[in-house]
Amino acid sequence: MDMLVVRGGRPLRGIVKVGGAKNAALPIMAAALVAEGTTVLHGVPDLVDVTTLSAVLRSLGAHVERRADGALQITVIDQQPCLADYELVRRMRASVCVLGPLLGRRRRACVSLPGGCNIGHRPIDLHLKGLRALGAEITIERGYVFARADRLRGADIYLGGSFGSTVTGTCNVMSAAIFAEGTTTISAAACEPEVVDLGNMLNAMGARIEGLGTPLLRIEGVSNLHSVEHTIIPDRIEAATLMVAAAITRGELTIENVCSAHLAAVTDVLRATGTEVHFSGSKSFVRSTAAPRPVDVTALPYPGVPTDVQAQLTALLALADGISVVTDKVFPDRFMHIPELMRLGANIRREGASAIISGTNRLSGTCVMASDLRASAALLLASLAAEGESVIRRVYHLDRGYEHLERKLNGVGGDIQRVADDPANMPDSLQLSADELSVPAIDSSDTPPPPKFLRRGESQRIHSHVD
Ligand code: EPU
Repeated sequence: MDMLVVRGGRPLRGIVKVGGAKNAALPIMAAALVAEGTTVLHGVPDLVDVTTLSAVLRSLGAHVERRADGALQITVIDQQPCLADYELVRRMRASVCVLGPLLGRRRRACVSLPGGCNIGHRPIDLHLKGLRALGAEITIERGYVFARADRLRGADIYLGGSFGSTVTGTCNVMSAAIFAEGTTTISAAACEPEVVDLGNMLNAMGARIEGLGTPLLRIEGVSNLHSVEHTIIPDRIEAATLMVAAAITRGELTIENVCSAHLAAVTDVLRATGTEVHFSGSKSFVRSTAAPRPVDVTALPYPGVPTDVQAQLTALLALADGISVVTDKVFPDRFMHIPELMRLGANIRREGASAIISGTNRLSGTCVMASDLRASAALLLASLAAEGESVIRRVYHLDRGYEHLERKLNGVGGDIQRVADDPANMPDSLQLSADELSVPAIDSSDTPPPPKFLRRGESQRIHSHVD
């Protein structure tokens, strides 16, 4: 296992490029299962999650290979398999995105339930509700979802839940409904750009989906789809993470391959903190010279501030000049980064779905532990801004969703080293000496006299003095 050693306190300056969106690439790769022929995908990032889904697709009869030009090529050679095994799904819950394509194309699916997750409770009840509405028979046995449908019929489906729409749920129901007889409407559909990217690819394959990017989708069923060549949209979460990196280190970055429309909410928050943000075509220029101003932020479904940027913004606001409140309405328990940010010196109190952050003017490097993908990014950003050295452990979370992030940050002035997670690699600065560890004895001559009991009337005088 690896860990990152970060030497903080250096402003990031230069040009950095964003890759293709992980959360678009995964359902799009799964959708290749529905096409005849070879699907060619450009801009699929090189990530552990992509490797995991490639293994799931191979187990489902697809040939998946990375071409010399970087494109991912997926050809279905056997339409029979329908089992997504626990051993693969437990590694990445997004593997559940094969459920809709399998049911739509093969009329059968047996997909392991994903199980627990560090960012909170993540049921798939809405996915199942939508697929049942299309006529699927679904049972859950021995930890697997068994779904089958001799016929899929169009239906009117409401897909909203207590926390808003569901991104992967919309992808799953849409990928099955494209094969349903007649018309399907999905209301309270997720509007995230990643869902739109999937829908655009399905339409290019011959599907008939209208309303992409709005909460109301209308789908006319078709009987078969052909393969296409498709380019994945830029990763708005990686872009936002890099924008926060510029702000938190008080540096200036030109970030290439971004879509400004996808970043409107994050841009608004950053500008409110006093960070300069400009766009020109597919480039963004971000600069900060001072401590951020405090702001209140609420993570909401798109077009709101993404929950996937909540932790990174929390790290930035830890250095703000005042009190900020960050609330997550999508994953109300996604706060495992808070105690680790506090180890770096942040003052944060959690209250329900909110983090109340009292900004400090200095973070100081230490050893922290990543709990999930975006928490790792937040800890990396905070470490870049902290004085001295930090160590981030359990960095495999970062590798699941960011393509060569430390390489990109080092290219613009960061000082991040990847080493084996071994006590021998712990920087000296993080190993306190015996002298530093011993608490100095109290010199009795400096000790204030013990408080005396007040006589009646004295307390009033003292209070009025304090006021
Ligand atoms: N929900 C339900 N029932 C469902 C599905 C979802 O109650 O059947 C709830 C969830 O518990 C959550 C909310 O609805 O409170 C939103 O969940 P959603 O289904 O939209 O999340 P997801 O599709 O499982 C995707 C991303 C996440 C991202 C969320 C929200 C992928 C592969 N994952 O997850 O990305 O946080 O949407 O935008 O697309 C990440 O990249 O780090 C990540 C976690």
